[in-house]
Amino acid sequence: MVSRVIPVSTFDLVLFGATGDLARRKVLPSLFHRFQVGQFSEESRIIGASRSDMSKQAFRSFVAKCLEEFSDTASADESCVKRFLSLIDYVQIDASTETGWDVLSSKMRPQIISVFYLSVAPGLFGTIASRLRASGCSNRESRIVVEKPFGHDLPSAQALNKELLNSFEEDQIYRIDHYLGKETVQNLMALRFANSLFEPLWSAAHIDHVQITVAEDMGIAGRGEYYDQSGAMRDMVQNHLMQLLCLIAMEPPSKFSATAVRNEKVKVIQALEPVSNANIARGQYVSSVPGEDYLDHAGNPHSQTESFVAMKVQVANWRWAGTPFYLRTGKCLRERVSEIVVQFRDPPHMIFDGTEGHKGNTLVIRLQPDEGITLHTTIKDPGPGGMRLADASLDMSFADTRVPTERSQDAYERLIMDVVRGDQTLFMRGDEVVAAWEWTDPIIEAWQEKRFAPSTYDVGGSGPEDSLLLIHRDGRRWRPIGR
Ligand code: BG6
Repeated sequence: MVSRVIPVSTFDLVLFGATGDLARRKVLPSLFHRFQVGQFSEESRIIGASRSDMSKQAFRSFVAKCLEEFSDTASADESCVKRFLSLIDYVQIDASTETGWDVLSSKMRPQIISVFYLSVAPGLFGTIASRLRASGCSNRESRIVVEKPFGHDLPSAQALNKELLNSFEEDQIYRIDHYLGKETVQNLMALRFANSLFEPLWSAAHIDHVQITVAEDMGIAGRGEYYDQSGAMRDMVQNHLMQLLCLIAMEPPSKFSATAVRNEKVKVIQALEPVSNANIARGQYVSSVPGEDYLDHAGNPHSQTESFVAMKVQVANWRWAGTPFYLRTGKCLRERVSEIVVQFRDPPHMIFDGTEGHKGNTLVIRLQPDEGITLHTTIKDPGPGGMRLADASLDMSFADTRVPTERSQDAYERLIMDVVRGDQTLFMRGDEVVAAWEWTDPIIEAWQEKRFAPSTYDVGGSGPEDSLLLIHRDGRRWRPIGR
């Protein structure tokens, strides 16, 4: 299938933190790729904003370098890069002072959609939002985009919501969780709500348990200071894994609209039972190579922050009572693999004698790498030898559904275009973030109160032993990380 490009309206996008890492690696290359396929025209403008004293020309050179490094300029003709660079402008702005706001305001075109992308520390969200409003840069049609972390705990997330809502309405605020922009994550919704095959089976009556694994092979070297204040629970579970859990567990929304989808997601988060320490395994990676332990990367020899967490979670509602969700995420594991495993219950009565080949029905949804879906089924082992059972899989790789030459779209490309369109479906609403922290905070507080120290696990392994026990004691097994 060839993907369709639906053009968006002309916009002015102001990128705060324009020289930062996220801007370089993700935001600017994503904008370029969307321009390259003709999703927006040369009427649009991208205005970099940061404290650096830089001319428009110098910023254009900076953008050209980012594109060389992080985008597919090899496949672009030179004139396309040139045309993209001609949309770029720059303004020097210090969020904490009056400097630059009048210049920015004079550049904004009031009749054009304006997007303010805050790729900056959360401590600056409120100040920038209020200065945008006070300087007349924003209007009722403007959108403001904020990156994670959205708060560190419940009070800080509530404070951020309040600060943003002082200057913008909720329908103007786009809280990014880039997992929601991933192709397969959206496919999850298509799989569940555009097929009649799974929905009648999608409940505790037919599903034994669900596993959600987001394993990474990289460590935290280079971002130890941030990560050590955060840990896997805040960095991954409270947001990315929570979003995946919501999409698996939510009720079918009445329509595919921001309000309907987000209403159903909030209900899942609010139905999560508190999780006790007995249902959690935490770990820190250790390496046989000197200087490569978590503690070295964190720069904190006494750190009790987890680089791995696994937990058993219950969704307390009619659909899911009795079906546990096992979540697991960690750094420095064997492979970079993100997948969701839906394990169906065995048939209530087995009519075949030799059942050793019988593994049951498992639906594996692979988010990365090699995005796709595999449904494990049981068949008769082919050939003579009596009625023996064997596992056979129905395998679908999303790469096969694309034209081979077409590159897959990065999550940021989709999300930024959705912001311009004014579609909030794939963004977190304020109450969703609050509900997620309400569930997360007591878990972290319990660790801190009881000084619940993480166990260790080897770099390149599958996580600490207690994460295996967590699931083995229920008579279940994790699907191996990598094979
Ligand atoms: C980020 C986390 O939000 O997501 C990182 O802060 C993590 O620690 C990253 O590595 C994972 O994203 P992806 O898209 O590479 O799975």
